[in-house]
Amino acid sequence: MSEVISYEKIGDIAVLAANNPPVNALGLAVRQGLVDGIERAEKEGARAVLIYGEGRTFFAGADIREFGKPPVGPFLPDVCSRIESSPLIVVSALHGTALGGGLEIALASHYRIAVPKARMGLPEVLIGVMPGAGGTQRLPRLIGIDKSLDVITSGRQVGAKEALKLGILDKIVDGEPREIGLAYAQELIDANAPRRPVSEMPAPAPVDFDALYDAVLKKGRGLLAPAVAVRGIQACCELPFDEGMKRERELFAQLMNTDQRQGLIHAFFAERAVGKLPELEGVAPRALNAIGVIGGGTMGAGIATSALLSGLKITLIEMSPKAAEAAKGRIAGNLQGALKRGKISPETFEELTEKALTLATDYAALKDADLVIEAVFEEMSVKKDVFTKLDAICKPGAVLASNTSYLDINEIAAVTSRPADVIGLHFFSPAHVMKLLEIVVADKTAADVVATGFALGGKMGKVSVRAGVCDGFIGNRILSTYRTCADYMILDGASPYQIDKALEEFGFAMGPYAVADLAGLDIGWAVRKRKRAEGMNPQARDFTYADKLCEDGHFGQKTGMGYYDYSAGPKSRVPNPEVMPLIEADRAAQGITPRVFTDEEIVRRYMAAMVNEAAKVVGEGIAKRPLDVDVTLLYGYGFPRYRGGPLKWADMQGLPALLDDITSWAEADGYFWAPAPLLEQLVAEGRSFDDLNRD
Ligand code: NAI
Repeated sequence: MSEVISYEKIGDIAVLAANNPPVNALGLAVRQGLVDGIERAEKEGARAVLIYGEGRTFFAGADIREFGKPPVGPFLPDVCSRIESSPLIVVSALHGTALGGGLEIALASHYRIAVPKARMGLPEVLIGVMPGAGGTQRLPRLIGIDKSLDVITSGRQVGAKEALKLGILDKIVDGEPREIGLAYAQELIDANAPRRPVSEMPAPAPVDFDALYDAVLKKGRGLLAPAVAVRGIQACCELPFDEGMKRERELFAQLMNTDQRQGLIHAFFAERAVGKLPELEGVAPRALNAIGVIGGGTMGAGIATSALLSGLKITLIEMSPKAAEAAKGRIAGNLQGALKRGKISPETFEELTEKALTLATDYAALKDADLVIEAVFEEMSVKKDVFTKLDAICKPGAVLASNTSYLDINEIAAVTSRPADVIGLHFFSPAHVMKLLEIVVADKTAADVVATGFALGGKMGKVSVRAGVCDGFIGNRILSTYRTCADYMILDGASPYQIDKALEEFGFAMGPYAVADLAGLDIGWAVRKRKRAEGMNPQARDFTYADKLCEDGHFGQKTGMGYYDYSAGPKSRVPNPEVMPLIEADRAAQGITPRVFTDEEIVRRYMAAMVNEAAKVVGEGIAKRPLDVDVTLLYGYGFPRYRGGPLKWADMQGLPALLDDITSWAEADGYFWAPAPLLEQLVAEGRSFDDLNRD
């Protein structure tokens, strides 16, 4: 008998308990153990079999250590079918997270019971594949097309209560999975309940699956896996069970060989690797109880909301009582959203806004804070003033953080007597929604301060990426470059609308000009003014159309007009007719004859600019590894997850061809297109960015 599945006979019930920590993943020994256990139960004359997991969860899915290795039998679909075809009654008792193969085992059982906190789902599409052990064949038989379509194509986790309503579960009982499972199995024996194999239930009547396929593909902006999973559901409805299982297998195998799967698996591992830094090994973070936030504008209010929602107490400093009240209003507005979505109760809402949040105008209120995040205006002099005050007030060991987007953290730290305690914590807007946090490590930042930044990010449910100091850190620096590339394409003949369309077709949630309208055109305007004042490189190209839009009061969505006209609402954008004449005037003033760009060239140049700057960011050590860049773009900039991130995309494209393009464009514009030394080095050595992730 396998060690990871223990066998015990209690009266008429054979108990198969999984003991494969940490998550009872369905590795080879577990699969074999389940088959052996069912056989032994049948031989020993049991009447029912109970399957459950010891430790924190039922089977949480496949064993990721087996990814990429040749599969070894018994395969999961066969294990499921062996469970289902047993003449005994099979009960699964769920707790923790029954995901993927875990839920498929439960679906192959005849009855399903769970504790109230159990969660379940078929998240395969999130890593570019689809259920492959009967999920698409059994779930529609059990709960119908619409509900299974939602569960399978979203990959989302379903809580026990909802699962009961959907018909995935038969029963919810609070307690230990072993105890509730045993009681349920006994109840079924006593009631002489029949076996209930889902495969023998009638399949739902077919619907227009071609239309469903197209709709799902469109919704996923080109993401294949959920659309292909629709074909699996189709097979369930149109084919006998065994043939449906074969078809599911074929579809699964098709997805295994796609670039999208490679991209998604890369994203999956990259986001787990991002917080694992050798410099933080064994370094304990500092205390994180009382948090201060300075400035309650867009960002300060969002950061405070996110911190409150993660259970932290906040003291927020504003410039005047009026501004403090306005900040509270913004926070309450954010929390209203959480209340509406059922994420918090009215009592919690009250607690967070009235008790956990303290407003103040005097910095003295921060004297006991463990960590303070500054989110005041993006002006070096204002930041320096704030940090001088913090240095005077805060207790020794308090972490002093800035949310600056671009400014030099070293320069800010230098105004304090404790630069080792100063760090950048760069949140993204809206900060209570966006998951990315750049943890910007300055020259003198202490390791335990960095660890505290990661601990805060963890508490707030963020994906934290370590970045070094430079203009814009990882994300905004790369953004500036690919935005510049897009701006240059506009000067040379493309329109903002063609560029947005081409990049949205590539898979970006929004094109760069729609994003600019959302963020506010005044932000880029301020940056351009600062750069011009600092003295731009004479080789850089400049333009005025974007400034003119701002001078006319068009700051994007917040003023109802930017590159697009939003008079019909923020979701229905149409081109602003003032834009093209401004662009044409710029071209004429610079003596440019506009040329035609294909969508393909737009994507190629935009992506090459992104990759080239990203390679510089890694080469200079601003990002420690290529995967840090990938995660930054995925979580902060709407990069399509199924393409893995810009550097994974570059690897899959082939680095030599990309470098050839960049080199050829450098003939016309050697300043902007100067190839990144790291890219040249990788091409010369025949290596990839992913090789660096593994070094
Ligand atoms: P904002 O203008 O909405 O808010 C700034 C707030 O700070 C105002 O409410 C102001 O009253 C307050 N304030 C100014 N000086 C203060 C002082 N000395 N003491 C206390 N309060 C003070 O600006 P926003 O957009 O929230 O930006 C804040 C910071 O966050 C900037 O450094 C910005 O670069 C950065 N950031 C902005 C992002 C965005 O998308 N808006 C994204 C990430 C970072």
